Amino acid sequence: MQELAIYGGEKTRTKPFPSRRDIGLEELKEVAEVIWSGQLNRVGGTKVSNFEKEFAKLYGVEYAVASASGTASIHIALGALNFDPGSEVITGPISDMGSIIPILYQGLIPIFADVDPKTYALDPEDVKRKISERTKAIMAIHLFGLADKLDELKKIAKDYNLYLIEDTSQAHLAEYKGKLAGTIGNIGCFSLQQSKQMTTGDGGMTIFQDKELYERGTLFSDKAWPRSGPSKDRGYLFLAMNYRMTELQGAVGLAQLKKVRNIVERRRKIGEKLNKLIQEEVDGVNPPYIPSYCKHSFWLYPITLDEEKIKVPPEVFNEALNAEGIPSSFGYIKKPLYLYPVLKDKITFGNSHYPFNLPEARKVSYKEGDCPNAESLLKKIITIPINEFYDEVDIEDIIRALKKVSSYYEQKN
Ligand SMILES: Cc1ncc(COP(=O)(O)O)c(C=O)c1O
Repeated sequence: MQELAIYGGEKTRTKPFPSRRDIGLEELKEVAEVIWSGQLNRVGGTKVSNFEKEFAKLYGVEYAVASASGTASIHIALGALNFDPGSEVITGPISDMGSIIPILYQGLIPIFADVDPKTYALDPEDVKRKISERTKAIMAIHLFGLADKLDELKKIAKDYNLYLIEDTSQAHLAEYKGKLAGTIGNIGCFSLQQSKQMTTGDGGMTIFQDKELYERGTLFSDKAWPRSGPSKDRGYLFLAMNYRMTELQGAVGLAQLKKVRNIVERRRKIGEKLNKLIQEEVDGVNPPYIPSYCKHSFWLYPITLDEEKIKVPPEVFNEALNAEGIPSSFGYIKKPLYLYPVLKDKITFGNSHYPFNLPEARKVSYKEGDCPNAESLLKKIITIPINEFYDEVDIEDIIRALKKVSSYYEQKN
């Protein structure tokens, strides 16, 4: 048996994996045009508005609003929906806190439903259980690049008269039953942060099916200051944010949009190849489960271990992989979102605990055990970063390291 690198054996992989993204001359050319124009703000520029139009076209929807971040893109969705404070949004507990922050800032209460143990999508049955008379929306989070359970969630939304928001930050161009993730619910939100399938460094995009919601979302992203029509006196029509994307980001976004199909195809090929090789060659490791009607877009590559075969804890397995030269991480986030101080201890505005202190709000508390599947998954998932520049050797090295570590820990038991 080969000695593991963690115990002094030879490393499987000595050179770093590609970290560069598909960003280059095309982006430079677009950005140069912005610099030479001297117009860096989107008001009066063309790049951001063109980026919105092209993004909407790529997704086959009518309307898109660009913004400063994925967090902002979700805030714009909620600002457009304009629910009364104390209303509830049901969502998943495995995500970046950027999914939840806008809910709280809008005076809304996040209610967590558990996830499906196989695809990590919101569990429709648990969503149903969590609906109250204050529920106004469901927000699905398409983790790691996979969107699932959307028919079921859409039906629940229809039956209970709720909106369905899709947090598609990690799942650009993922597909569910032939439809693009982000276009199935009422509103789709995207992060364009550096690590995502396409990026503007930081940035966000909110796509809408409905014109009125889009118009309010546009205003919400720009201090409710109508930029055209009769109300040119700044308007300030309601409480809203400045989430405007800059022309520099819009320029990068335009160039990235031309590449994102190809980027996702390359990532999909790499992800699917890893799935195939793990299934064929690596005992004790479960590749991500992809239902036949889904196309994954592989923001990260998540694996779990077969606990019957690999008796060491996943943290140890992950450390061994790291020692082999694979930059994997254990757990994604270390605990479900509701166990972080902002939610568990309701650390929000001063000592108010707003919005949880609102008389209109139902009293909620968050505690361990609320979403057992999510809690158990976070103690199991190991994520392996991949990107469009990984080649055959990179894939081989990941497989060799997985094989080496899994067979070592299988035989040790
Ligand atoms: C699922 C999800 N939602 C929201 C966000 C927030 O996006 P941003 O960091 O661009 O604000 C992220 C960022 O990683 C995310 O992965």
